[in-house]
Amino acid sequence: MMNDTMEKAINEQINAEIYSSYLYLSMGAYFAAEGLPGCANWMKAQAQEELFHAMKMFDYVNERGNRILLTPIEQPATEWASPLAVFENVLQHEQKVTSLINNLVNLALDERDHATNIFLQWFVSEQVEEEASAGDVLQKLKLIGGDASGLFVLDQELGQRIFTPPAAG
Ligand code: FEO
Repeated sequence: MMNDTMEKAINEQINAEIYSSYLYLSMGAYFAAEGLPGCANWMKAQAQEELFHAMKMFDYVNERGNRILLTPIEQPATEWASPLAVFENVLQHEQKVTSLINNLVNLALDERDHATNIFLQWFVSEQVEEEASAGDVLQKLKLIGGDASGLFVLDQELGQRIFTPPAAG
């Protein structure tokens, strides 16, 4: 079983992961309204991935014999100035999540909770990918600049993204 401090911290992270899902869904709604269905698709897949993160933690808390306590999810932003601004927001958000995960690892080490430390290593690696995939789209948007045909091609590319849950482990 996790101690109370660790239990509370993982519960807070479950909220943060669900908020991430909500934020990306809101970005997906923005893109759908802007006539960029591929970007909207990318965000929907990202929202599913965030729910997967939340559920991975949900299952872990139960497995340890601790208690899940779900709390209100903050309302996400609904408008952005441009597609570029959205992806700048994604990267900035993922960098924030990385620091939250790192803080959780530090806490697990302080609390000498080795099982939770090992559990969190998956998220440490996942955050490297999360920042890289956001950074990749952001880079392409910067190259495209104000070129509508470039944005059209990128939108088609992002329309190919499908969320596949990683294999158990
Ligand atoms: Fe759950 Fe995008 O980090």
